[in-house]
Amino acid sequence: MSITILGIESSCDDTSAAIIQDGFLLSNVIANQAIHIKYGGVVPELASRAHQQNIIPVVDEAITVAGIKKSDINAIAFTKGPGLLGSLLVGTSFAKGFALANNIPLIEINHLQAHVLVHFIKENNEDKLPDFPFLCLLVSGGHTQIIIVRNYFEMEIIGTTIDDAAGEAFDKCAKSIGLPYPGGPHVDKHAQQGNKHTFKFTKPRIEKLDYSFSGLKTNFLYFLRDNLKQNEHFISENIDNLCASLQYTIIEILMDKLIIASMQTEIKRIAIAGGVSANSGLKARLSELGATYDWTLHIPKNKFTTDNGAMIAITGYYKYLDHNFSNHTVAATARYKF
Ligand code: KG4
Ligand code: ZN
Repeated sequence: MSITILGIESSCDDTSAAIIQDGFLLSNVIANQAIHIKYGGVVPELASRAHQQNIIPVVDEAITVAGIKKSDINAIAFTKGPGLLGSLLVGTSFAKGFALANNIPLIEINHLQAHVLVHFIKENNEDKLPDFPFLCLLVSGGHTQIIIVRNYFEMEIIGTTIDDAAGEAFDKCAKSIGLPYPGGPHVDKHAQQGNKHTFKFTKPRIEKLDYSFSGLKTNFLYFLRDNLKQNEHFISENIDNLCASLQYTIIEILMDKLIIASMQTEIKRIAIAGGVSANSGLKARLSELGATYDWTLHIPKNKFTTDNGAMIAITGYYKYLDHNFSNHTVAATARYKF
């Protein structure tokens, strides 16, 4: 008998629902919230309201596109945290209601664990899934971590940011040069036309495998301020080179620690995940390093890098196989470690 899981993601500003059947993706519907663009960042209360409007149509569409009936669904998985509490509440409440109404189990999901497990989503029989253990560099808007993945649920964080996340560094610097929110993809586009060696920004010296990005952000802002004093058109005249140099620095910071992590753990299977793993410069650099250090690389498709329901559904699938269900007293949690 097939196992069919509905996954709901609502931790930040994207409402998403997906259907996974026996590990294969049948649908993955994402409603982005355009409302935040004019504020230059996510406004939590608006995000929560938009989730309320989106959740039913998004789930309906996921079921329709998958070509299944509601009664085929064996369990509903939802993001318990971490994320914005108001946003998480919408998905949590919906999932509880859906589970009760359809008399199926409820499965709580850790958003970060789900980002890592995108590597197990199958779209066709040729998809090559990672072997355990592997290292995953999880780089998103809220998190920057190096994780040893020993099993689907046995993950150990061996390095983490002590301040801003890599995605935040992209977004905040992008905002300061007038790029729309979220800035990461815009920086990526401009960087492709620029020379990464034009400007030099500072790399932090942080102990062990941890990261820091707030120094780079400050350095970037002061650098802009000083140059704008001399030339008010500095940004528009240099936008491609600014983006290329900034992106290069972020990638180097990320890669320096990943190389050390691989050497220390002697793990050569390397995966990346999270929104920033869509970055074309990061992927190119990782491929170069992969050749140098003889790494086996696992790079997610772009559609699985940013927040999506498929990652919740695949994690739910493995929890279902493990009979790891939640009861209805489960609550959304803004801070949620694994
Ligand atoms: O994983 P995600 O959707 O949300 C969180 O869980 O945080 O990641 C969003 C982050 C944003 O900071 C966005 O700017 C960044 O991913 N991002 C990128 C790219 N695409 C998305 N950063 C750099 N280059 C990209 N191509
Ligand atoms: Zn995320």
